[in-house]
Amino acid sequence: MGADVYFTEAWTQTEGAQRVRTLFENSYGAQPAGVWQAPGRVNLIGEHTDYNGGVALPIALPHRTYAAMSPREDRTIRLVSAQDDGGIREVSLDEIGPADSAHRVEGWPAYVAGVAWALEQAGVEGIRGFDLAIDSCVPFGSGLSSSAALECAVAVGLDALFELGLAGSAEEPNDEGRKTLVAACIRAENDVAGANTGGLDQAASLRCREGEALFLDCRTGRTEGVPFDLAAEGLALLVTDTRAPHSLADGQYNERRATCEAAAAELGVDVLADVTDRDAAIEKLDDETQVKRVRHVVDEIERTYACIDALRSGPLRGDVLDQVATLFDGSHDSLRDDYEVTCPELDTAVDVARAKGAHGARMTGGGFGGSCIAIVAADQVDEIARAIAEAYAEAGFNAPQFLLASPSLPAGAVSE
Ligand code: GLA
Repeated sequence: MGADVYFTEAWTQTEGAQRVRTLFENSYGAQPAGVWQAPGRVNLIGEHTDYNGGVALPIALPHRTYAAMSPREDRTIRLVSAQDDGGIREVSLDEIGPADSAHRVEGWPAYVAGVAWALEQAGVEGIRGFDLAIDSCVPFGSGLSSSAALECAVAVGLDALFELGLAGSAEEPNDEGRKTLVAACIRAENDVAGANTGGLDQAASLRCREGEALFLDCRTGRTEGVPFDLAAEGLALLVTDTRAPHSLADGQYNERRATCEAAAAELGVDVLADVTDRDAAIEKLDDETQVKRVRHVVDEIERTYACIDALRSGPLRGDVLDQVATLFDGSHDSLRDDYEVTCPELDTAVDVARAKGAHGARMTGGGFGGSCIAIVAADQVDEIARAIAEAYAEAGFNAPQFLLASPSLPAGAVSE
């Protein structure tokens, strides 16, 4: 059997910057003032916990979205993307509004325009129009947060162009200021693009640090670094982008969120993260769907804390690696059986990776398609990827794509 195995390589920052510089120059006939980048992410564990006030553990990917930008004197935003053959688009800063308003912005420009709008709504002064060219090596529709990468690249670009003083650099981030940028990016996505997501992706893209995972308390915004050095132990994080069609995703995501909010109201807590006694809470619920969703969320928060403790307890080998593997596996099984957000493609990738000796495998992101992650021996990456591709071919699924994830820099300027 010979299924093709395709790995999506991350561009170097120099390569990414060159691409958007060229696109900018060809589109606007001038040099950009600068180039900014923001990464996609994988979440190691803590799935569907962010909008429940819980905790998560993302890393930033080496795969990034690049934005070449220049300020303008007026309030026009001009945008062009290598992934959109519609040419230059234009939006006025004065005609941006929530997705359900007369000033709705259609398509991907909503993620860009929404950030500028949300910063102005938050009282940030000094923003004007700008010209922008975008390109990205974060695969789209893969559950790896390509939309957050777009928002966050624009956010750090606006910060520099209009001297907002919020971002610092990728190497020395201004973490307090970045919280304001995270909030604006979330608002852009929730209000202007109309996707009711929970904020994990934007925090990951702006607040992760190179070489470690990010403990993120989604309610307080508190973060801490957590060791995650796979390479030191001869391990790799294999990401399978299932390429599964997931057209129902938005409705299903919103439904999960609404069920959690209804269960929290029923239990008399603000958010499900406030549930202290899982079994007692479940006893109080009549609705079987709510029971399953609550069980997932409460257990997943506990698994995330346990995973952080394990990663902090010593190098990722032996017992530590076994504990992490058990927690990854438990997370996936709970997302499959209790939260019901997996699909045959995700389950197949996870099952094959486990059967081939992965140290834990699970879906990452929202689910209903998207990607799964597996901790594997570095010298087994090709063999496991091939086995997954072959299982997909046999099942008649779309061909999967792969990439390797290692904890990378957050959003910032590209110094060329
Ligand atoms: C998507 C959303 C996030 C988060 C995850 C699930 O990625 O954008 O806010 O809810 O799903 O953990």
